[in-house]
Amino acid sequence: MGKNIVLVGLMGAGKTTVGECLAEKYKLIFTDSDEVIERDTKMSISQIFAERGEAYFRELEKTAISMLSSKNGRVISTGGGALENEENIENLKKNGVLVYLKASPEILYKRIKKQNHRPLLQNEKPLETLRILLQQREKNYLKADIIIETDDKTIEKIVDEIGELCKL
Ligand code: S3P
Repeated sequence: MGKNIVLVGLMGAGKTTVGECLAEKYKLIFTDSDEVIERDTKMSISQIFAERGEAYFRELEKTAISMLSSKNGRVISTGGGALENEENIENLKKNGVLVYLKASPEILYKRIKKQNHRPLLQNEKPLETLRILLQQREKNYLKADIIIETDDKTIEKIVDEIGELCKL
């Protein structure tokens, strides 16, 4: 079995949606690191942030990513903050091709504005938060092996591009 395809990028980048379609098209197993955390803790991400704090969530995320990095041939969707930890980047790269789903803050905002499950965006100025996070985090997203611009593309087009670039 081949390397994992690891989707990275900010909240709203489409990691989960694209990941599910990609996995379906190429008959691969899809795993979302946030879902692993929710399943293992029996808590939602919002609950973990509220009751245990972000630092605790980041520890859980590190454990989930380390476990997922030992798998093969999967499509893995990561949380938007996953690459802020150097150990996560190393683990994910060991056995995976990292694909950065790149989008502008305006488009990210459009995609997430009706959702309320992301603790970091539950504030007065979510668009501003996305701008700041992108500025802080993009240097790490750019460490990905493949960068896909997603602003004007359909899910199908993005999936096709990943399939081609990763030779699936
Ligand atoms: C986070 C992104 C979320 C989730 C958590 C923190 C972040 O995942 O891991 O709310 O720090 O950007 P998505 O990118 O899948 O929304």
